[in-house]
Amino acid sequence: MTGPVIAIDGPAAAGKGTLARRLAATLGLPYLDTGLLYRAVGRRVLDAGGDPADPAGAAAAARALRPADLERTDLRGPVADAAAAAVASIPAVRAALLAFQRDFAVARGAVLDGRDIGTVIFPDATAKLFVTASLDARAGRRYAELAAKGGAVPLARVTEDMRARDAMDAARAAAPLRPAEDAVLLDTTALDPDAAFAAALALVEERLRPA
Ligand code: CDP
Repeated sequence: MTGPVIAIDGPAAAGKGTLARRLAATLGLPYLDTGLLYRAVGRRVLDAGGDPADPAGAAAAARALRPADLERTDLRGPVADAAAAAVASIPAVRAALLAFQRDFAVARGAVLDGRDIGTVIFPDATAKLFVTASLDARAGRRYAELAAKGGAVPLARVTEDMRARDAMDAARAAAPLRPAEDAVLLDTTALDPDAAFAAALALVEERLRPA
């Protein structure tokens, strides 16, 4: 590995993406939102009229994934969320996406956000953050994002969907959502984006400093 790998994991809408993107820009590293991989696989299965929970169809979709799939504009929203979580629980899907994630960081290092970056994809990452926030705070943020895009999903539905998806991500046998033993926990419930970023940058810089 020729550059640092920064692993940012945590549950839905904890602020991982915003943090990871800003860390990458500040540190001059490439950024990969690994959730997009699972979202795009879910979409491919739905396009083909398949069931995202069907292992054979989902694994074939994962193997057929192309970088252009990550540029799709329909990867967010309740249907894409549920399809992503369904394909993500299938071991053959995760296996098919592993090399892409590791290769992404080979040339220059990277910041990656997801659920299993620090536990499975890069167990030797230079720095690992596990970003959390209360369910209400996370659901409130996702509700505001959806509302800003014109999506009229009621807050109670956003909260319930998020609770169900987090439970599924944490309970699955393949790469369940959990903090790596050496991850630093960052709770953003009471932090605005700037405060969360300042805290994350300080934690990462401490890890980047030569011992
Ligand atoms: O943006 P949000 O936090 O809601 O979700 P995401 O990070 O885009 O991830 C969508 C779904 O993909 C998650 O609910 C997980 O089931 C799955 N995922 C995963 O299993 N492993 C990853 N490294 C990233 C996402």
